[in-house]
Amino acid sequence: MEFSIKQGSPEKLKCGCLVVGVFDGGKLSKAAQMIDKVAQHALSDLIARGDMDGKAATTLLLHKLPGVATERVLLVGLGKAGELDNKTSLDILRATFCAVNATPAKDATLYLTDEGVGKDAVWILKQAVLTAAEQVFRADSLKSKPAKAAALKSVTFATLDKPTAALKNTLEQTAATTRGMALTKTLANLPGNICTPTYLAAQALALGKAHKSIKTTVLEEKDMQKLGMGSFLSVTRGSEQPAKLITLEYCGADKKQKPIVLVGKGITFDTGGISLKPGADMDEMKYDMCGAASVLGTLQAVAEMGLKLNVVGVIPTCENMPSGKATKPGDIVTSMSGQTIEILNTDAEGRLILCDALTYSKKFNPDTVVDIATLTGACVIALGHVASGMFSNDDKLAKELIAAGDQAHDRIWQLPLWDDYQPLLDSNFADMQNIGGRAGGTITAACFLARFTKDYRWAHLDIAGTANLSGKNKGATGRPVPLLTQYLINRTAAK
Ligand code: BES
Ligand code: MN
Ligand code: ZN
Repeated sequence: MEFSIKQGSPEKLKCGCLVVGVFDGGKLSKAAQMIDKVAQHALSDLIARGDMDGKAATTLLLHKLPGVATERVLLVGLGKAGELDNKTSLDILRATFCAVNATPAKDATLYLTDEGVGKDAVWILKQAVLTAAEQVFRADSLKSKPAKAAALKSVTFATLDKPTAALKNTLEQTAATTRGMALTKTLANLPGNICTPTYLAAQALALGKAHKSIKTTVLEEKDMQKLGMGSFLSVTRGSEQPAKLITLEYCGADKKQKPIVLVGKGITFDTGGISLKPGADMDEMKYDMCGAASVLGTLQAVAEMGLKLNVVGVIPTCENMPSGKATKPGDIVTSMSGQTIEILNTDAEGRLILCDALTYSKKFNPDTVVDIATLTGACVIALGHVASGMFSNDDKLAKELIAAGDQAHDRIWQLPLWDDYQPLLDSNFADMQNIGGRAGGTITAACFLARFTKDYRWAHLDIAGTANLSGKNKGATGRPVPLLTQYLINRTAAK
């Protein structure tokens, strides 16, 4: 999908579909007024007849208006001017692209940013780009007869006034974000028999090949053995697939500048191990590598944008399988940090691979570390599918992440990391156990990770409820790539 922005008069434009707004009560937007004038009041007439009342997210498609160069004009209801909340703005954008995508138009031109539709022009532009890309994304590469690709190939945002530099910048950056999200979604939707740890490593190496600014390294199990990653290696014991520890180093600033490290959980399939999961919906555990996929998507976006900062991606990846060799409940392992862990439930494996990756991350002398993981079912119970869970040992970082999530509409909600929860992880036989019981399951998982992140500024994102949809709309969402890229963009502006 191509995106562009330009200034121009709506009646003179040639394109497959021209989109102009109508406010509640039938008041025409400026662009709609210009169309109405040349089209012998066709728009005012149909509004007077009651065919369009401007209610938010309603649409009306018109063909071959007299005096108008373009083939189709789509009227979109914008609701009450100046009173739009974010959700209604998004409903309008979804309805708009849904209506455009129902036509054979290859290109569309939208007049939506001029008159304060929604929060502000930058926000609307960003969400329009994300919505357009979302609707043309297909996940049918493994069908023998893939569905027809979307007709829409290019979207132009037209403005009556000269577009600002901020708008142009937002367009470029959000377009790169959508390509990063597409990579994330494509990888995440692949089944576990294709997307193995070896496959993820190959993808990371390919990203390094495609971008000079990215250097990819892949460590093998024997390397991890030498590093003392007994916790990570305990998870892969039951699998026939070799585990990998992938690092991607993006260098966009002076080498001496401390990097922001993103650590992504890469369990390519989570059966639960010996603590086997129940059968229903177990297929969705192919999505247990969404943290890893979001790190790859974010790094691709960052490299395309050429952001002036240093970012490192660290991806511990393996399968969690039962077998004669698999780790058993009660087994005790030694993590890279030296701390010992009693594994009471082999299904709490994410924290076991992450803790060693977090200890390993110290070697990059990080400014900040953010880990991203489909870590707990309890997070889905707590926050549903709207917000990702967030924990941090640094209030400033927490605030920056929350702000970036709001800006990108990829929202997070902070949960407590208080020491009061720590005793739930006490073990009679080791330094800690890997589960804290049912109560506060998301929090005790984060508290476990906190024991390995004391030496740097750190945040943890639990994306179990937001990385993928279930049921009829089953599929990866590409979250939290918008949040992560926005945070990184903001970090370059702060310097
Ligand atoms: N990958 C799962 C978490 C998960 C569950 C993600 C549902 C998405 C949807 C994780 O490895 C896991 O199994 N967690 C356990 C932890 C428990 C054993 C303490 C869980 O949430 O049940
Ligand atoms: Mn698990
Ligand atoms: Zn898992």
